[in-house]
Amino acid sequence: MHKSIRVADAPRSLHVFPVFSAAGKSAPRLPTTLQTHEGARHALRVGAFTGEAGSVHAADDRTLLLGLGARDGFDLQRLRTVAAKLGRALVKMRTTAVRLQPDWTGGVRSIGEFEAGSAIAEGLSIGTWRFDRLDGSASRREPRLATLRMWSDRRDFRDGMNEGLVVAAGVNVARAIAATPPNIAHPQWIAAEAARIGRGALRVRRIDAARARQLGMGGLLSVGQGSTRPPCLVTLEWNPPRRARGARDAHLLLVGKTITYDTGGYSLKVNNGMKGMKYDKCGGAAVLGVMHAVAQLRPAVRVTAILAVAENMVAGDSYRPDDIIRMHNGVTVEVTNTDAEGRLVLADALSWGCKTFDPSAVIDIATLTGGVAVALGHFSAGYFSSDDRLAREVERAADNSAEAVWRLPIWPAHRDYMRSQHADLINSNPARMAHPIQGAAFLSHFVPPQVPWAHLDIAGVAAPDTPSDLTGSGPTGWGVRLLLRLIAART
Ligand code: BES
Ligand code: MN
Ligand code: ZN
Repeated sequence: MHKSIRVADAPRSLHVFPVFSAAGKSAPRLPTTLQTHEGARHALRVGAFTGEAGSVHAADDRTLLLGLGARDGFDLQRLRTVAAKLGRALVKMRTTAVRLQPDWTGGVRSIGEFEAGSAIAEGLSIGTWRFDRLDGSASRREPRLATLRMWSDRRDFRDGMNEGLVVAAGVNVARAIAATPPNIAHPQWIAAEAARIGRGALRVRRIDAARARQLGMGGLLSVGQGSTRPPCLVTLEWNPPRRARGARDAHLLLVGKTITYDTGGYSLKVNNGMKGMKYDKCGGAAVLGVMHAVAQLRPAVRVTAILAVAENMVAGDSYRPDDIIRMHNGVTVEVTNTDAEGRLVLADALSWGCKTFDPSAVIDIATLTGGVAVALGHFSAGYFSSDDRLAREVERAADNSAEAVWRLPIWPAHRDYMRSQHADLINSNPARMAHPIQGAAFLSHFVPPQVPWAHLDIAGVAAPDTPSDLTGSGPTGWGVRLLLRLIAART
């Protein structure tokens, strides 16, 4: 990986030329400036370079051909994954300066220079990231290279690259937080990290356990009570100095599940199901990544974030199955399963957040259920919405970011499925039907009905076992790009 990536020119840069592959067995068309280039022509003649998406070929020591794949079906996501592969090739070649030669829009009318530059920067930066904070003295990884400088002669393309770098930095912030192990990333560490991210740009506050008790947050407190590290809520507020015309009283609230470790509690996770549960903070990590970018992008719309932070542990004072607890909004919940903890901390955050901030829309993001991964795999997140207009915003943002979502229903029957004999609600129905919907239906009891609400269940996409072209293996930072586009569309 490079220590950092910047938009800057440098002498003796490597010139990178985008090349589409051609139909059938025919050779791709070279850019005009390379049509008499001996090395490039040779590579095409012998088939050493075909323009396959993400393939690279050094035509000479300052000229790199980069395959974009077929013109058919070319889009921004292709550009991102191609750039991710370019980035990994540049690291191998120890390249520290590139000049991106035209043309990256492929003549596709809907892709502008700004969008292309931004997709390439996202791909380069996301594709070359790795978690290196805990590299030790026995690390066998390649050394970190100097800054990568990238340049284009087009101003709008460079502007796009600068924005893409900010977005990618948000994604990588989310991934670094997600990857930080539970012996380091406990609730107070999360709060400190939030303060660091917001410094100078956002108002960051903490609702500690004592205050949560005064506020009656039985869900948050119960989940966290078995840990030596007390639970908390963390809020980060972006209040723009100038608001966009249509966004005068718009206020978006984001809520992230931030379970720093999920053992399941007394409903203990078995058969190695606990391994990887450091990723149970990925919802909150994504929200922090978004706010990191918001602090730099300064959108003309008000955005507030809440992290619901706790560690779900086993101890003499942990909460138990059969406990009945009272939540912030006065609803009582019979705990049927201590492993359905995410909805308990989120419920208090949603209820308190809607009451405190009176948002015009609220979106929560959470690694809530293994069931959503069973249903949708790593192919898409599951999402739910009480409001069709907000649902369309989510889908449009998902299209733009190529982070796929699939809507699931919440019907009155689903809400009734969460009723308890001894209290208002149960946190999980022991009949084990429709787990992702159960989680969403439970949460719906804690959002005031007049507030448009969407719930993203990212358990299948936050840190899948299958590596992806863009992010490789490990945490993906899923949702950061989607939410940033949703915010941008509101300005
Ligand atoms: N954090 C888990 C969900 C999860 C599972 C995320 C696997 C990523 C991978 C959540 O707290 C949980 O334990 N959910 C239970 C719900 C059940 C007890 C109602 C589940 O999915 O089994
Ligand atoms: Mn759990
Ligand atoms: Zn969990």
